[in-house]
Amino acid sequence: MSTLYSKATLGLMTLQNHLVMAPMTRSRATDNIPNTLMLEYYVQRATAGLIITEGTSPSPNGLGYPRIPGIFSPTQVEGWKRITDAVRVKGAKMFVQLMHCGRISHPLNLPEGARILAPSAVTAAGEMYTDAEGMKPHPLPQAMKEEDINTAISEFAQAAKNAVTAGFDGIELHSANGYLLEQFIRPNTNQRTDSYGGSIENRARFVLQVTEAVIDAIGKDKVGIRLSPFGVFNDMPLYDSMETDYTYLAEQLNVRELAYIHLVDHSLMGMPPVPDAIKETFRKLFKGTLILSGGYDAERSEKDLTAGKCDLIAVGRPFLANPDLVKRWETGAAVNDPDMETFYTSGPKGYTDYPALEK
Ligand SMILES: Cc1cc2nc3c(=O)[nH]c(=O)nc-3n(C[C@H](O)[C@H](O)[C@H](O)COP(=O)(O)O)c2cc1C
Repeated sequence: MSTLYSKATLGLMTLQNHLVMAPMTRSRATDNIPNTLMLEYYVQRATAGLIITEGTSPSPNGLGYPRIPGIFSPTQVEGWKRITDAVRVKGAKMFVQLMHCGRISHPLNLPEGARILAPSAVTAAGEMYTDAEGMKPHPLPQAMKEEDINTAISEFAQAAKNAVTAGFDGIELHSANGYLLEQFIRPNTNQRTDSYGGSIENRARFVLQVTEAVIDAIGKDKVGIRLSPFGVFNDMPLYDSMETDYTYLAEQLNVRELAYIHLVDHSLMGMPPVPDAIKETFRKLFKGTLILSGGYDAERSEKDLTAGKCDLIAVGRPFLANPDLVKRWETGAAVNDPDMETFYTSGPKGYTDYPALEK
């Protein structure tokens, strides 16, 4: 009897299986508005238990990359509503990932009047893709004033309400991979001397206030969060107190009783290892649902679920390349390989044209 393909519980919801489609930015949202092509992509993959959408900005300021969707304007909410309506018919539950890019951004990618914000004015190493001029160095962000922090918290809360209006079953806070929420947690990007910087209690304050605000807005059963302990993506180096910092976060998030914590592990993508010990710490301290991700195939998914390491498994690239991944894994059929060249390009190629098995 397989656990992976049996029904699962997430908060008050029942999922049709234990497989989660991991959030993946696909850059098909022209003008930052969810469209019919995106509808087709998500519907093709709606045999997952839970779909977590691509990173979606709660604010014009958070739209760091070209062609990523937002969920702050009525047109965006309308676009998402069409997608959730169509996905629901196929049985998957759907959470929108709220991603505020913070300093991982470029003026050429932002709408007029938007600002590049971060806890402190620290530029990320490396470059960022823009449609207008190709690769450009990361710009210097503006250190957020207290007023900017309060505005950002309200934008997250409003985006959570918009998500419910748009028919989502919940929201995932993107507090991983070097974006705004993680920029507050990590000492290299947070050099503040006020109550948001310094100790981990202070560096975690923004994330916890955002968590509380979205819970107030839509209820704790509809809120999850993604974290990347030991993640280094987007110029977020390892540092000494990483483990104690994330242990503190596990404890604090447990008190807030949100639906799930979703841990990133990009060690199989060439990033540093994520120690098992930190995953075990989250398992022990957090009483809600734990989702693990990173390099899973069917066999390892089954193994970790059966061993009780987590409650659900999130899968990225295999879902990207296989619209009918659940069926392929369940029947042991061959899988399509993902094509990196088309991860972030426009149009249907490498997006909605991966073949499904013959019926
Ligand atoms: C094309 C692509 C886009 C991604 N975009 C996001 C994103 O928007 N938000 C996020 O949290 N992770 C993002 N990720 C990371 C994935 O969610 C996942 O953690 C990673 O692909 C490892 O899982 P896998 O080995 O199953 O692919 C992205 C990954 C890929 C390949």
